[in-house]
Amino acid sequence: MTLSVLAHRDELGLRTGRLYIDGQWDAAGGGATWEHRHPATAEVIGEFPRATAADVDAAVAAARRAFEAGTWSRARAGERIRLLHRYAQLLRDHAEELHRIQALDNSVPLSFGGIYATSVGAAADVFDHHAGWVDKVGGQTLPPYQGGDHLAMTFREPLGVVAAILPWNAPFLLYAQKVAPALAAGCSVVLKPSEFATFSVLRMVELLEEAGLPPGVLNVVTGTGEECGEALITHGDVDKVSFTGSRGVGRRIVEASAGTLKRVSLELGGKSPALVFPDAPDVTLAASTVVGAVTMGLSGQACVANTRALVHRDVYDEFLTAAEAMASAITFGDPFDPGVLASPLINERQLERVLGYIDKGKSEGARLVTGGERLDGELAAGNFVSPTIFADVDNSATIAQEEIFGPVLAVVPFDDEDEAVRLANDTEYGLGAGVFSADAQRAFRVSRALRVGTVGINGFQIEPHAPFGGFKQSGLGREGGQSAFEAYTELKTVMMPLSDEMM
Ligand code: NAI
Repeated sequence: MTLSVLAHRDELGLRTGRLYIDGQWDAAGGGATWEHRHPATAEVIGEFPRATAADVDAAVAAARRAFEAGTWSRARAGERIRLLHRYAQLLRDHAEELHRIQALDNSVPLSFGGIYATSVGAAADVFDHHAGWVDKVGGQTLPPYQGGDHLAMTFREPLGVVAAILPWNAPFLLYAQKVAPALAAGCSVVLKPSEFATFSVLRMVELLEEAGLPPGVLNVVTGTGEECGEALITHGDVDKVSFTGSRGVGRRIVEASAGTLKRVSLELGGKSPALVFPDAPDVTLAASTVVGAVTMGLSGQACVANTRALVHRDVYDEFLTAAEAMASAITFGDPFDPGVLASPLINERQLERVLGYIDKGKSEGARLVTGGERLDGELAAGNFVSPTIFADVDNSATIAQEEIFGPVLAVVPFDDEDEAVRLANDTEYGLGAGVFSADAQRAFRVSRALRVGTVGINGFQIEPHAPFGGFKQSGLGREGGQSAFEAYTELKTVMMPLSDEMM
């Protein structure tokens, strides 16, 4: 039987995506359209406008007008707080529908909806969290250094017009991590969803309109990176670009920001290590956690997945046996089937890329323990790749150094703690790491030695209030927490003498 998701598409009423500019929905835009094909079936789910530079201009102008008008940028704190909480609740009320739309966008299975970090529930919590900063982050009054008595005060003001550019893999969380702090701070936003997960984002924006956000404060341009993304990042009237995606596009954004010195925040890729010590509380559980993160749900298409397992030789065989067992338990197919645990790769380009890395792993001498194949039969029309584990990988090998963004785990043996830390840090990336050890002193010692943004000790969780981001080439800045809110503000200093004396 051939797999089909069209009945779900019809039930959810998807077909045509629209631009959202100045409070108006427009299914035409100025240019061509993009046809979205489902990654598991290659069926056409719907189409949406490929926004042109003129559409981007209109969206940025609407965002600027709204910002200058002050309907949101100067709104009272209570008004912003109430709207953001109202919106968080609307997201929760529509969680099931949104998870279903996501399954049509990127084929992340419904079974994965219960995983907190990528769920609508987490996105709703991010809005609640940032609503909390609105009336808590203020300025300071500083004692004078010189002259007569005077006030030196600082104020945090909204930064202006923000271009928020999203990838396709975790549309709920990544949308929230940008839009929530930007709106909480009083900015206007022009949002560009990924062309591979547009419908989920459009539905979330409809709900934002329903929550009562004034027209022009948030605008959406749909389409491709080359066309509409480029027009956004090179636009002279955008104050900040907030981006999650690949390192290559991150570099391009830094280059393009130079012209008008835009503020830039980047959440990029990773090659995050899991360090499994002989005193890990449960080696089987450690192996299941690591392999689960690299295969379940997003099939390894997750920036922070531990795609390199550094395993002590004393527990190496035990780890590999458990890892292989976990890989064999992963199921594929219809994302609406509750028994399905993992997605296909997002598109054919990504499929070819991942298969290319698997070939490279073999040719560079790593030992293929399991997987390494495209799935066929009923799944032949989709971009499915079996969970793949390579053992005895040299840490300098391509599959241990480059981000594959697929269900491929490289297992590297080590002999002692110093070697483990050295191998872990021997990468251009620095997004996350896992440390598996029952020795608390070792776990903290190693955590401090790792050059990464987030460490999980015997487990990992993304939390709305915990800063998340990368060292080294994994990014610039952090999302989540107070610093993320502040990154959507400018700091202004105002001086005032308290007498007519010259300062
Ligand atoms: P991508 O970089 O190809 O695309 C991301 C977004 O940028 C899309 O909306 C795309 O249309 C847009 N874009 C592409 N070229 C552009 C250009 N020249 N100018 C402006 N916008 C452009 O990444 P993809 O394939 O969507 O996502 C995978 C990547 O994202 C991986 O490398 C992954 O590690 C990274 N990622 C990072 C996360 C983090 O928090 N650090 C989270 C999720 C993904």
